[in-house]
Amino acid sequence: MKVGFFDSGIGGLSTLHQSMKVLPEVDYYFYADTDHVPYGEKSIEEIRKLVDHAVGFLVDKGCEVIVLACNTATTAAITPLRNKYKIPVIGIEPAVKPAVAHCKDKRVMVMATPVTAKEPKLKNLILKYDLENKVDVVPMPGLVRLAQNDEFSGDRLLNYIHNALADYNLADYSQLVLGCTHFNYFKDTFAKVFPNDIEMLDGNLGVSNHLRETIINTGLVKEEELVGRGSVEYYYSDRKIEDGEELEHIKALHQRLERNLKL
Ligand code: DGL
Repeated sequence: MKVGFFDSGIGGLSTLHQSMKVLPEVDYYFYADTDHVPYGEKSIEEIRKLVDHAVGFLVDKGCEVIVLACNTATTAAITPLRNKYKIPVIGIEPAVKPAVAHCKDKRVMVMATPVTAKEPKLKNLILKYDLENKVDVVPMPGLVRLAQNDEFSGDRLLNYIHNALADYNLADYSQLVLGCTHFNYFKDTFAKVFPNDIEMLDGNLGVSNHLRETIINTGLVKEEELVGRGSVEYYYSDRKIEDGEELEHIKALHQRLERNLKL
């Protein structure tokens, strides 16, 4: 069985990484739209067009379930995609509910792209769960570019984070919601920047469990048929990655994500 994963770039590898643990038996097609990343500052119409193309590409490859491993694409495009395709389309959204439930007397910071931060989807989620006004949303578009450039440490990264957070008292927060899949690469840095033992939440495990349940509950595959190990193919926009050096780069990104899983 083939499952398609989509992100604007390498952020969605963090979701794929988790799904490969929860559901190792399927064949994954990972599509990163590197020709058009970042999405977080584009218009909704533009994002819809790009995501529609990428999902069409994955469906043509034979994918029977699609995971939008991108909060921005989910915000902008999940509804039209679900209207267009009969196959399940699973999205990801910032983990506001568990963060509010765990924050005790502290606050919750949600980092996201500008599109995710300003669209009604996140606002409605916060209205639903943030009954005591404990959630602050901070757009951090620069982190997407830094991740795409492999800048996971160093002065430029730290300066960007310190400037973006200059108006916030970081000691007030116990929960950090990673509302963009690219931000998983910076968990080690966030752990150092926030003075408290900050709890970082992403939706990757939830999405991966949901993916497994979806393929079983919709009858796409019977649980007993899920055996052996599947495969992964990686695509940058419409191009399959076959170059050994680039495949090594992706392997190194998986290793970074694996280390950050423990934080
Ligand atoms: N990884 C994407 C997300 O989860 C966004 C990156 C972008 O701005 O392209 O929102």
